[in-house]
Amino acid sequence: MKRFSVSFAESASMDTAAGETEQNFADVQVPAGKNLSEDLTVKNSPVLFGCRTGICGTCVVEVIAGAEALPAPDEDELEILDLYADGQPAARLACQIDLQADITIRAQCKARWSGA
Ligand code: FES
Repeated sequence: MKRFSVSFAESASMDTAAGETEQNFADVQVPAGKNLSEDLTVKNSPVLFGCRTGICGTCVVEVIAGAEALPAPDEDELEILDLYADGQPAARLACQIDLQADITIRAQCKARWSGA
């Protein structure tokens, strides 16, 4: 089965009891056509998931490379992106992406863009 690579644009900071530390994330290989929420959950990734149905906005990511090879977001995804990533054209919901190519993403949290 063909697999595609998901790369993470930058390391993420994590708050720990001992203070903030940097965590680097290795590329993840995902089978073609498989939803990102399935594989990124079981493999080490900075992307967090909540509902997995495209309504909570927890999994908002910025697609840095490879966006042109992804299916366009449907009306429901666009509605949620308007709420949590308004004005961010590279934003997608990771739980709504079925991988069709290698991509590079940057994990975002909805608070970062919404000001919440
Ligand atoms: S996990 Fe809730 S919108 Fe993606």
